Amino acid sequence: MVFIHHKHYSNKFLSSKKDKITLRRPFIAANWKMNKTIPETREFLKEFVLLAEDATDVDIAVAPPFTSLSAAAESVKGTNIKIAAQDIFYEEKGAFTGEISPAMILDCGCSHVIIGHSERRQYFNETDEVINKKVKAAKNNGVGVIFCIGESLAERESGKTFDVLKMEIEKGLENIGGDNIVVAYEPVWAIGTGRTAAPSQAQEAHAYIKDRLRVLYGNKADENRIIYGGSVTPENVDSLMACEDVDGALVGGASLNAESFARIIKFKKIKK
Ligand code: PGA
Repeated sequence: MVFIHHKHYSNKFLSSKKDKITLRRPFIAANWKMNKTIPETREFLKEFVLLAEDATDVDIAVAPPFTSLSAAAESVKGTNIKIAAQDIFYEEKGAFTGEISPAMILDCGCSHVIIGHSERRQYFNETDEVINKKVKAAKNNGVGVIFCIGESLAERESGKTFDVLKMEIEKGLENIGGDNIVVAYEPVWAIGTGRTAAPSQAQEAHAYIKDRLRVLYGNKADENRIIYGGSVTPENVDSLMACEDVDGALVGGASLNAESFARIIKFKKIKK
């Protein structure tokens, strides 16, 4: 398959290595999607908690299905591992059969929520407007947001990557402050396909996203972490994390195994 390469995008603003280290702790999250029962959740975390014990310079979150949230929160008690939900509804309560409110995930021990994942946009028709309401609801309830954006293969091939990212950021974050928001860049063509973005492709998109956040939040945007998702594995995490504007990862498939996810959170810093 042929990729049309964008004109190289680099930050208009100066961002130094020092910024990355001093302002933004790496943030690495496991997105389990529709995987793992309660016993499987407990089994994973029993092993993972031990493996992650010495990973003290990274923020770690695990996002199990709703049904496993309480068990997961119990399993990570006393550790630095955070629990995230994979979605929420934006209303506080009421006649919304099947939906889960921000207060309910807080109740289960969550501190974070993934919002706007491409699978929700694709299979459940989530629009930027709905995503915007969900981000607002999460923030109003003090829940940290992992806000997902990313272009499809067709969009990339027709040179629309930056337009898509710009639109998703503008609409998804409209009238929303930047604190407590982690942006996840997840090119749809790289999710679950085994086809990771090359570090240069990730860096280019992250640099663009960073500039869009600066338009919204000014210099405060330097504090927002921008993490990469899409076929992250123990084999490619080090080179992705070496990119200037890649502050972490959102990991699907490779987060389902405790050893594999542990290797990812213990990514090795490559000196350039
Ligand atoms: P993947 O999923 O790592 O299996 O590609 C990432 C995601 O969808 O968050």
